[in-house]
Amino acid sequence: MKYKLLGQTGEKLSALGLGCMGMSFAYGASNDKQSLVTLEKALDLGINFWDTADMYGNGKNEQLLAQVLKNKRDQVFLATKFGFRAKDENQHTSSSLDCYIDASPAWIKVAVENSLKRLNTDVIDLYYAHRIDPNIPIEETVGAMSDLVKQGKVRYLGLSEASADTIRKAHAIHPIAAVQHEYSLLTREVEQTHLQTIRELGISLIAYAPLSRGLITNTLTVDQLDADDFRRQLPRYQGNHLQNNQSLAQAFSDFAVSKNVTAAQLALAWILAQGKDIIPIPGTRHIDRLTENAKAIQLSLTTDDLLNIDKIIQQFPHTGERYNPEQFAAVNH
Ligand SMILES: NC(=O)c1ccc[n+]([C@@H]2O[C@H](COP(=O)([O-])OP(=O)(O)OC[C@H]3O[C@@H](n4cnc5c(N)ncnc54)[C@H](OP(=O)(O)O)[C@@H]3O)[C@@H](O)[C@H]2O)c1
Repeated sequence: MKYKLLGQTGEKLSALGLGCMGMSFAYGASNDKQSLVTLEKALDLGINFWDTADMYGNGKNEQLLAQVLKNKRDQVFLATKFGFRAKDENQHTSSSLDCYIDASPAWIKVAVENSLKRLNTDVIDLYYAHRIDPNIPIEETVGAMSDLVKQGKVRYLGLSEASADTIRKAHAIHPIAAVQHEYSLLTREVEQTHLQTIRELGISLIAYAPLSRGLITNTLTVDQLDADDFRRQLPRYQGNHLQNNQSLAQAFSDFAVSKNVTAAQLALAWILAQGKDIIPIPGTRHIDRLTENAKAIQLSLTTDDLLNIDKIIQQFPHTGERYNPEQFAAVNH
């Protein structure tokens, strides 16, 4: 594994993290035994940067990770998030639409204790506001997060899906180490909206859904997704957009094969080539895929490769929005 520095913190994180969401949430049925083996394998591969959130399976994802952390806490740089609360705590949640946003200081105090308990740890390495609460000034949210650092419950702070303006305001209250945002070959807005600001402030970009939630791997059979699979709600997985994206994934995969790599590896190598301050956190529940993805760090792409990839993507412009309007409403612009 290769390692990258997290913002200005001096912490060395694996150049590829592990997104744990799908192990308990959003992508249909999962298998805890298989997920636990995957988590152990991540440590064998040196993937020490794990990403979870309190809302993934109403806390189940944090509890799952705790089973591995109990003997190996010191091997993991652990990131979790707060801010999405289930509309009904007793109901199964399969998407953010089953939740509302609460990033109030009062809730942060409760949420952090819940996460610490579920993760069975004394400290969270990186604590993110999962979404920016439109009803609470960001200064108050980050002020309350900063108190957790002073109390030793949290080491570093992050924001997810925050606008550049919000990031600046937050950073003035307490240093922000990481900004998490969707970033992949199909979702490149962040290059225009965020990169300049976070580079100026010395903040790392944590690229979530770097495989476009599986689409770019050219292995997804969308009509076989579980009925409650969150991706069914997304424009990219519907109608003409889906057709466009399947053709795009096929063309991208053909190019990957011509380079003797898989589409997943090429997609991750492309993100890694965008800057040493960018860390993708691909999600998988399978050790074979984890091992496959980890090899992406060994690839180096030439300028021609990058140009060819751009050309392929530009041939299929009707990718569709990454979220539906209701989900976009939770994103801070
Ligand atoms: N901050 C936020 O709002 C936010 C939102 C979404 C996600 N996240 C975080 O980002 C992480 C990553 O995003 P994501 O999981 O949504 O999307 P992703 O990493 O782009 O894609 C995950 C999907 O790709 C599949 N996959 C992984 N490696 C593969 C390979 N080599 N070949 C074929 N398929 C492969 C996975 O299947 P299997 O699992 O079945 O292997 C899963 O269906 C999440 O786990 C979560 O921690 C954050």
